[in-house]
Amino acid sequence: MLARAHTHALVGLDARTVEVEAHLQRGSPAFAIVGLPDKACQEAKERVRSSIKSAELEWPRCRLTVNLAPAGLRKEGSGYDLPIALAVLAAGRQVPPERLGEHAAMGELALDGRVRPVPGALVAAEAARRAGLPYLFCARESAPEALLAGVEAVPVRHLGEAAAYLRGSFRPEPVEAAARAAPFRDPDLADVRGQERARRALEIAAAGGHNLLLAGPPGTGKTMLARRLPGILPALTQEQALEVTRIHSVAGILPAGHGLVERPPFRAPHHTASTPAIVGGGPGPRPGEVTLAHRGVLLLDELGEFPRPALEALRQPLEDGTVAVARIMGRVLFPARFLLVGTMNLCPCGARGDPGVECSCSPQRLAAYREKLSRALLDRFDLVVTLPRARSVEVAGARGEGSSGVAHRVAAARESLAGGPPCPTPAASELLARAVDRVGLSARGHARVSRVAATVAALAGAESVAAEHVAEALSYRSPSELAVAA
Ligand SMILES: Nc1ncnc2c1ncn2[C@@H]1O[C@H](COP(=O)(O)OP(=O)(O)OP(=O)(O)O)[C@@H](O)[C@H]1O
Ligand SMILES: [Mg+2]
Ligand SMILES: [Zn+2]
Repeated sequence: MLARAHTHALVGLDARTVEVEAHLQRGSPAFAIVGLPDKACQEAKERVRSSIKSAELEWPRCRLTVNLAPAGLRKEGSGYDLPIALAVLAAGRQVPPERLGEHAAMGELALDGRVRPVPGALVAAEAARRAGLPYLFCARESAPEALLAGVEAVPVRHLGEAAAYLRGSFRPEPVEAAARAAPFRDPDLADVRGQERARRALEIAAAGGHNLLLAGPPGTGKTMLARRLPGILPALTQEQALEVTRIHSVAGILPAGHGLVERPPFRAPHHTASTPAIVGGGPGPRPGEVTLAHRGVLLLDELGEFPRPALEALRQPLEDGTVAVARIMGRVLFPARFLLVGTMNLCPCGARGDPGVECSCSPQRLAAYREKLSRALLDRFDLVVTLPRARSVEVAGARGEGSSGVAHRVAAARESLAGGPPCPTPAASELLARAVDRVGLSARGHARVSRVAATVAALAGAESVAAEHVAEALSYRSPSELAVAA
């Protein structure tokens, strides 16, 4: 006897429909899964068998073959457990096969039959909808995601509940559409004392989406400021929110029971993270930090500590807003449009820029440090600020302006920039042309200064870009302390 269940396979950030066929034949008891399952998927056998017994349902005493079609598509992970179990039950007519046919299913099974969430419920629900399946069996934690795709979730805690539901003897408690984790409160800029110039650069970065490098001695508030950038960015649009939620869902980083991601993401990988972890790769392939930061902020704290290959790999996403990741067959393109913030000390020992301390770095060590932050990468930071060591008086001084006031100006500037960037006055153009000659600004550098100047003008509510706006934009080019002015 034969029965079918529907599920999906994740391919990059997409889901493709997969049919699970369970075939029961006469013969000595055996259980095989075919159709390119990976190891985790092969192991479904043990979980499915144990779950069916735990649910006090019958394990078939004959030859059982489960085929995952199309056979050419790799099936990865434990999310096939629930559809396999349901197909087996339908093949044995323990649940009605026709009813199962209207449902997609996803979920890992514990040995006692509990249904555990697996990543990618949003894209799975979207795939179900495309396949004309109106219902999706999933763990309760995954239900808010399925609802976002306009598919009716059938949230189940246990395999037994899914079977009872198909037989018409159980109705799952509805899951609230609005269910989401407690909103995360971004840290506030009011905590930062002094550092006016860095705060200003943060505001410009947020308004224009410019990459920002904060350099300076230890303990001057670089990390503190960088962490406060997402809090002054506008909320994501509905479309962007869905896009980000899809990515985070597939990557398995959505908090359980979470619906839409409405705030720009913030990612801060440690410098020991591997290059694939940063740009994407591995089985699947999995999106990396640059993709997880899509539409949000990527902080590389202690930029100088990151290995050079990881920094080089950032060039493509910074240029294109996408990242190509190699997979077994060909490559996939992941979105990766993020605002990059780097922090660094001015030298390996950290003393440079600190008037009270003597730098102990050898010239070779200093040269190697700067060399690593290759010219090309530094050139991609539109705004470079050196933070001075705050004198104790300043630190003890008044708290700064809070994030909400800054966020207001950022939103207004973004709106005005969206209506078309302001044009430069003749004086502004002339100043920029002189800068090209004087500091040998590259073509890319020129374009970047123009964009920053337009943002500065927009923040000032100006109709056109004036010379003073260009002057401010120029003042954020790599300072001489970094000695690699681009
Ligand atoms: N401008 C500031 N306003 C208020 N607190 C500050 C400021 N600068 C530093 N601090 C305090 O010092 C601590 C360290 O700051 P932070 O980690 O941001 O420094 P950093 O510049 O990143 O240093 P490092 O180079 O060592 O990473 C903060 O947690 C905060 O308590
Ligand atoms: Mg720091
Ligand atoms: Zn030093």
